Amino acid sequence: MKKAQTELLEWYKLFGRHELPWRQTDNLYHVYLSEIMLQQTQVNRVRDEYYPQFLEQFPSLRALADAHQDDVLAAWSGLGYYSRARNLHKTAKLSLDGLPQTTKELMLLPGIGEYTASAVCSFGLGQNVPVVDTNIARVIKRHFALLELPTKTTWDKAKEFVNAEHPRSHNLALMDLGSLICLPKNPKCLECPLEMSCLGKNEPELYTQTKKTIYENLELFLGVCIKDDKIALLTSKEKMYKDMLVLPNVEPIEEEFIAAFKHSYTKYKITVNLYKTDALTQEELKLVRYRQTRLSTHIFSYKKSEELFLN
Ligand code: ADE
Repeated sequence: MKKAQTELLEWYKLFGRHELPWRQTDNLYHVYLSEIMLQQTQVNRVRDEYYPQFLEQFPSLRALADAHQDDVLAAWSGLGYYSRARNLHKTAKLSLDGLPQTTKELMLLPGIGEYTASAVCSFGLGQNVPVVDTNIARVIKRHFALLELPTKTTWDKAKEFVNAEHPRSHNLALMDLGSLICLPKNPKCLECPLEMSCLGKNEPELYTQTKKTIYENLELFLGVCIKDDKIALLTSKEKMYKDMLVLPNVEPIEEEFIAAFKHSYTKYKITVNLYKTDALTQEELKLVRYRQTRLSTHIFSYKKSEELFLN
C-alpha cells in the first residue's frame, strides 16, 4: 500500500492538473462552488466560462446569500441542471457563519451528497477522508480488483488507501489518474504509476461499470417574438426548468416556420422547431433583454445561434 501511495504522489507531482484554479485555493466556498459546477459539466467549461465569472459576481458565500435567486440562475444560465444553482443559493442562506467543516454536517445541506462533502473536506480542508467520484471509483475498482457492485465497498477501499500524510494530493492524484490514464476504454497501463500493484490490469474492462444513458427523443415547437433587443419569454413552472426563462410552446403554423435544430439536454435528444409568433398577447409572457436573463439551457443553446433570432 505504502509503495503504491508513494508512486501515485510522485506521478501527481509531475503530471497532476495543479493549475486548475480551485486547486490553488483553500477558500471553502470556492472549493464548494467548483465541486457543484463540476458535477455534470466539463472541467474546461467550468474553468473558462463559469467559475471565474460566478466568483466575480458573488465573491463570498454572504454575497451569494444576499443575492436574488434570479441573478444566481442568470449566472448559471447555460450550465443546465438548475437545481444545482437553487441548492447552492439555499446552502449559502443556511450558512451565514460559513460552511460547516465536517462531511456529516455538510451532507445536511441542500444539494450536498457524500461526494461533495468529502471533496470539500479533502480539497478545501486537507482532511484525511476518502473521496470517490466516477473516475476514482474506476481506479480503485481496478487496482483492488473489486467486482462487487455496492458503492460502499469502493468507499471502504478508498478509505483504506488514503495516504494519511498527504490525503488531499492523494485524492486529487486518483482523480487525475482516472481522467488521464485509467480511462474507461483502452487505459494507458504502461504509463500508470500503479501498474505494478494493480490487480485488475489484465482485464481492466471487467471493472468498468458504465451506466448506459437511455435517451428519449423530444420534439418542441417554440415561439419566437423579438422586439428590438428584447425577446418574449415566460417563467417555467416545469421541474427541470423551474424559474428559468423559456420560450413559449406554440401550435406549429407552417408559414411561420423559422428554423429547426437539434440539441441534447440530460437524457433528452431534442429537436427544436422555431416559429414566429406574436406571443405578446399571452399574459404571462415578459419582454426581456435576452443578453441579461436567466435563460434555460434550450434558450442558451438557441442564443448561440443568434442568427436564428435575428433573421
Ligand atoms: N479538482 C478538484 N475537484 C475536481 C473535480 N471535481 N473535477 C476535476 N478536477 C477537480
